[in-house]
Amino acid sequence: MFSDVDIAKQKAAEEALKRVLSLKPRILGVGTGSTVDVFIDMLPRFEKELRNVTFVCVSLYSAYRVAQKGFNVSQLSVVSEVDVYVDGADEIDSNMNMIKGGGGASTLEKIVAYASRYKIFIVDYTKLVKRLGEKHSIPVEVLPEALNVVYKKLKELGFEVSIRMVKSGKYGFVVSDTRGVILDVKPSTDFDPKELELILKRIPGVVETGLFVDMADEIIVGYPDRVEVLRR
Ligand code: A5P
Repeated sequence: MFSDVDIAKQKAAEEALKRVLSLKPRILGVGTGSTVDVFIDMLPRFEKELRNVTFVCVSLYSAYRVAQKGFNVSQLSVVSEVDVYVDGADEIDSNMNMIKGGGGASTLEKIVAYASRYKIFIVDYTKLVKRLGEKHSIPVEVLPEALNVVYKKLKELGFEVSIRMVKSGKYGFVVSDTRGVILDVKPSTDFDPKELELILKRIPGVVETGLFVDMADEIIVGYPDRVEVLRR
């Protein structure tokens, strides 16, 4: 039995696939998360059209899944430009700014998105918020060596901070695919995403943040009965 949110994710992923096919990418960037998983599961339907596409994935998990379906997977380190990028998001505000990194992959997500000519984000309707930070903290990836320094600095700056712990299996900190530790930072209720991004990135040891400002070209929002497309 599918929930409304499952159906909404499905609708957004289907629309994204149509869009990708119309853009005819040679190199397709693929993000990570449960919505992207739905997108990846749909790829084999278009095996013929996607046979010659090279996929660049932001997580080992997505790369594994795309490769398992028989598509060509390459590394970001050997491509300098990606034609189209498809990824999910945790929160989206009315300016199309986003919080990402719920799955701990925001660093590679941001690099691949930045390297991509056209960036499409796919979300279900529950991800739309009035203000970023309503439901999610901002993931900040830090070098393990800088964990204490960054943690202390963020506290001094007045943020509520927690170190992300694994929820099951091995006990301890979450370590990202880029070997960083993730701090979840709760911002004040009224913050400017662009300004906060600068404040966070100024702290030595911060690798990346999950704030995606002015990044999306297109956001496909799935609902149980339709999709809505936001464009820049
Ligand atoms: C991964 O680190 C995230 O940025 C995901 O893109 C984001 O958390 C959305 O995931 P879901 O599609 O699972 O909600």
